[in-house]
Amino acid sequence: TARRTLIAGNWKMNGLSADAKALAGGLAEKLKAAGEVNFEMLVCPPAIMIPVVAAAISGSTMQLGGQDNHMNEKGAHTGDTSAAMLKDAGCGYAIVGHSERRTDHGESDEVVKAKAAAAQANGLVAVVCIGETEAQRDAGKTLDVNGSQIAGSVPDGSTSANTVIAYEPVWAIGTGRTPTSAEVQDVHAFIRAELAKKIGQAEADKTRILYGGSMNPKNAKELLALADVDGGLIGGASLKVDDFWAVAQSA
Ligand code: G3H
Repeated sequence: TARRTLIAGNWKMNGLSADAKALAGGLAEKLKAAGEVNFEMLVCPPAIMIPVVAAAISGSTMQLGGQDNHMNEKGAHTGDTSAAMLKDAGCGYAIVGHSERRTDHGESDEVVKAKAAAAQANGLVAVVCIGETEAQRDAGKTLDVNGSQIAGSVPDGSTSANTVIAYEPVWAIGTGRTPTSAEVQDVHAFIRAELAKKIGQAEADKTRILYGGSMNPKNAKELLALADVDGGLIGGASLKVDDFWAVAQSA
């Protein structure tokens, strides 16, 4: 496919600066030693670690991203980080609407869409996360939920250059459980079709759709081989150099 595989690590709220430096530095070394690779690698550290990581990956092809950005440009939003700040610190990407933020911070589709738009407006690629809960899946609502999250969370005018979708079934995050490969492919194909309704078929065909939820060195090869899976958004297995590198090697 013409879509370049994206292997993205979401470190979530883990590690201190020494860990961040060692992990990012170790991966950057592997990338440098590998030369030409058939994937793009991205790490998304906690916001406060971004400068440490930026220094550790300098001179490598490693991409850097934030885990969230505020929808507004600036102002009275204590504790928040703007998309411009991420860009200024060396980021090219920002995750928005991760299920943990939707849950912990009550982020609605509308909020996620505004955050994605702010990321895009500041020259970042928005990694827009969607996914059903276990109860929604059991109720047979998987496609409905993901379809409405695409409709509600992806800004109008998004392009394949400024948008990546991450499909993360909430029940698969950190649990060691994943849908079957056939289920993953079905949902990804559906997501691409829903995206096409919003941004047109040509752009939807070029947009990367990542799978996230317990991806690891054991299951990555099978998941990454699926026709509409264009990479992974990896949590637990992105916290060790060898595990994350092994996932990337499965691309
Ligand atoms: O953003 C990453 C996902 O939430 C997946 O996390 O790989 O630990 O299941 P996990």
